[in-house]
Amino acid sequence: MVHVPVMLNEVLHMLSPFEDVELVVDGTLGAGGHSMAILENCPNAFLIGIDQDESILAIAKDRLSAFKDRVYFALGNFRDIRSILSDAGFDSAQVFLFDLGISSLQVDSPERGFSFNYNGPLDMRMDMGRVCSSLTAADIVNTWSPAELTMLFRRYGEDPFAFQVARAICRRREKDGPIMTCEELVEVIRSAVPAPAQRKMRGHPARRIFQALRIQVNDEMGALEDLLDELPQITRRGGKVIFITYHSLEDRMVKRNMRSWAEAGLGKPMTSRPLVPSEEELELNRRSRSAKVRGFLFTP
Ligand SMILES: C[S@@+](CC[C@H](N)C(=O)[O-])C[C@H]1O[C@@H](n2cnc3c(N)ncnc32)[C@H](O)[C@@H]1O
Repeated sequence: MVHVPVMLNEVLHMLSPFEDVELVVDGTLGAGGHSMAILENCPNAFLIGIDQDESILAIAKDRLSAFKDRVYFALGNFRDIRSILSDAGFDSAQVFLFDLGISSLQVDSPERGFSFNYNGPLDMRMDMGRVCSSLTAADIVNTWSPAELTMLFRRYGEDPFAFQVARAICRRREKDGPIMTCEELVEVIRSAVPAPAQRKMRGHPARRIFQALRIQVNDEMGALEDLLDELPQITRRGGKVIFITYHSLEDRMVKRNMRSWAEAGLGKPMTSRPLVPSEEELELNRRSRSAKVRGFLFTP
């Protein structure tokens, strides 16, 4: 199992000159792909690596063991960035990197319940309930009303069959009891989406529904909003904030906040448009296909 870091060259380019990089926060450490490249390229960098997933953090600790004197590892949610920084002994940092969403290592672990390709419990909590206690995907699927489920699947999944899937879920749980596994949910989704539409779809018919559930379970938009509120106060003058987003709502939030930071005279976006993956990367790494990179440079 590997997680190939997305748009690594673009991120590194935004960090240059490497010699000047001294204190970096990787707020979504994952398996440490971006962090490793940063530590290798920036000889003077100390890095604070945050992840809310204890099992992923353990993998990153192992992979980055050669740099252990230059890394502080933190189990936590980036929405608590201020207190995590303070535990590490800092009140600000020079560079912040956030590669949002989920790691391939999480998707490819059937027991975590993130994937429509494997069977496992419908869980999807990135923090496994250890950082914040939140609902599991099964809690949502089995307790939310049809209207709430429809709204969720539309908002975070942009699924054209949101209503049909929500209705099928509610019928199924009334008839046969709770839906507890990924396989059961996939079966319900397949039964709700008309066969011709399924044949025409580019991705798996359950992809959008699983995405919506994952975003909700982990309160991904709420965490991002909290983080964006904090960043201008904790980024040093001349510092940089870099985001890799995979969802149009996330990208819009990042864009809007960067625009308001610029309007407040705090600095300027590093590129006029978001960067997108090269043809070559798209071919090598399917996960990069919806990625967008935005950077913001705070005024020195
Ligand atoms: C796309 S992966 C990062 C991959 C990493 N850049 C690499 O190259 O290996 C996203 C990681 O961020 C973590 N994550 C997502 N949201 C988070 C949050 N709000 N706070 C802390 N970690 C989060 C996930 O657990 C996952 O491991």
